[in-house]
Amino acid sequence: MGEQHDDERRAAQPRARQPEVESLTVRPARAADRAAVMAFCARTWGDDGDYIPAVWDEWLMAMQVGQGALLVAAAVVTGQSAALGTAEPAGRPVGLLHVRMVADDEAWIEGVRVDPTERRQGIGRSLVARGLVAAREQGAAVARFFTGAENVASQQLFGGFGFTRVA
Ligand SMILES: CC(C)(COP(=O)(O)OP(=O)(O)OC[C@H]1O[C@@H](n2cnc3c(N)ncnc32)[C@H](O)[C@@H]1OP(=O)(O)O)[C@@H](O)C(=O)NCCC(=O)NCCS
Repeated sequence: MGEQHDDERRAAQPRARQPEVESLTVRPARAADRAAVMAFCARTWGDDGDYIPAVWDEWLMAMQVGQGALLVAAAVVTGQSAALGTAEPAGRPVGLLHVRMVADDEAWIEGVRVDPTERRQGIGRSLVARGLVAAREQGAAVARFFTGAENVASQQLFGGFGFTRVA
């Protein structure tokens, strides 16, 4: 009886809302972003880990001396800041992208990551758009990236910006 009652109560309650990004800013990374970025990169490739922790400091320092750009997407997510009792006007890091200049006029885009809980909301697209602007600002006329043959998500994402497969 009690179990049935609980089930009925659960069924009558609205389902928990999927967090939604209310506002998004793509900005240069800061040292203080590190912990949040590492947290959402922890399982990018499941148990295989991610190389972002090994390159974060190098990418951040390079940007600080004018080489490349390490960008972070910071989001205000519906419900989350209120639930935690904290105002997050600047948002929390939910994505990153690195632009490396490999020649005076050529950029290599790498380290594109979006928090698994916040995907399919346009964050990847915002990062790539801002990354291409940063690449152009550093003199790039060409931008390239690499992804796995099976990585449909990133192929579709970059394909939307006109990237085509060359190898
Ligand atoms: C690839 C990745 C960055 C996409 O981030 P995202 O914020 O979810 O992407 P967006 O919401 O901006 O999606 C933009 C477009 O990319 C494509 N896309 C994104 N995820 C997709 C998926 N799982 N399957 C198919 N297409 C996908 C779609 O065309 C999408 O447009 P739509 O939502 O209007 O259909 C994210 O899935 C990720 O971090 N993956 C793990 C790391 C990775 O693969 N990085 C790239 C390595 S080069």
